Amino acid sequence: MRRAHFATNFTSGDGELTESALRELYAYPRHLPRPWIRTNFVCSVDGAVSVDGRSGALGTPADKQVYDTLRELADVVVVGAGTVRAEDYGGVRIGPDGRQRRIESGMSDLPPIAVVSARAHLDPHSRLFADTDVTPIVFTCADADPGKVSDLANAGARVVTAGEHEVTSTGLVTALDELGLRRVLCEGGPSLFGRLAGDDCVDELCLTTAPVLAGGTAGRIATSPRAQVTAMTPAHILADSDGTVLTRWVRVPQL
Ligand SMILES: NC(=O)c1ccc[n+]([C@@H]2O[C@H](COP(=O)([O-])OP(=O)(O)OC[C@H]3O[C@@H](n4cnc5c(N)ncnc54)[C@H](OP(=O)(O)O)[C@@H]3O)[C@@H](O)[C@H]2O)c1
Repeated sequence: MRRAHFATNFTSGDGELTESALRELYAYPRHLPRPWIRTNFVCSVDGAVSVDGRSGALGTPADKQVYDTLRELADVVVVGAGTVRAEDYGGVRIGPDGRQRRIESGMSDLPPIAVVSARAHLDPHSRLFADTDVTPIVFTCADADPGKVSDLANAGARVVTAGEHEVTSTGLVTALDELGLRRVLCEGGPSLFGRLAGDDCVDELCLTTAPVLAGGTAGRIATSPRAQVTAMTPAHILADSDGTVLTRWVRVPQL
């Protein structure tokens, strides 16, 4: 064991990372034969994923910068219905420069939000549908209440069936592939991430540790009925002067 001195300085002092260096550090693999599932979370030093039911109190400037960078690089932002309900999700916003960079690299100017909701249990009047410049996607299952499904379609959603009785991880990844969405950014929450991790479907985790203790009753970043150990290797570790630590973990390639 050795003391690690490899954390890269983030936003202050010598060696400050530029925005373009940050985009390179978080670039998706160039050739993707299937969807690459990247997840992004922030937690407190003591492991809380939220404070009073939301993640806002854990945010820091460096976390926000990486959050925005990851959105700019993604074809789609996948999120569980619990997070959409808790955080009142609206559509992705990207500034003019970021939109231009996306267009120049052959991407759409904005990634859609794609919500995983087995019950199609979303408010058709919420910001998800009312405050977005791009059509949101809802991944649901064949068993979902047809009335709720048609309400969401009428609210402007592209509804995609990705399973019979539940949205399975395989069903979700296959549906993303069929839509041509391979640079996937999953923003949680813990149930969706836990399910994907439990099914060995996570390629990468970007994890910010915010420099706070939070206590409380909040859970971990992943919860699932059964454990699944997946070997991960650090791609980089960044540190900001306020104590924020940003890590990028990639699944060890399987032989
Ligand atoms: N710190 C962070 O970075 C961060 C990130 C995200 C969320 N959060 C926090 O996490 C909390 C929400 O956690 P959560 O676990 O309830 O949210 P979640 O994972 O976003 O949502 C769970 C819901 O997703 C739907 N779902 C459908 N298929 C699923 C599948 N295969 N696996 C899992 N879920 C599926 C279900 O909704 P239906 O019932 O509609 O079918 C389920 O109730 C909030 O407090 C939020 O602030 C924190």
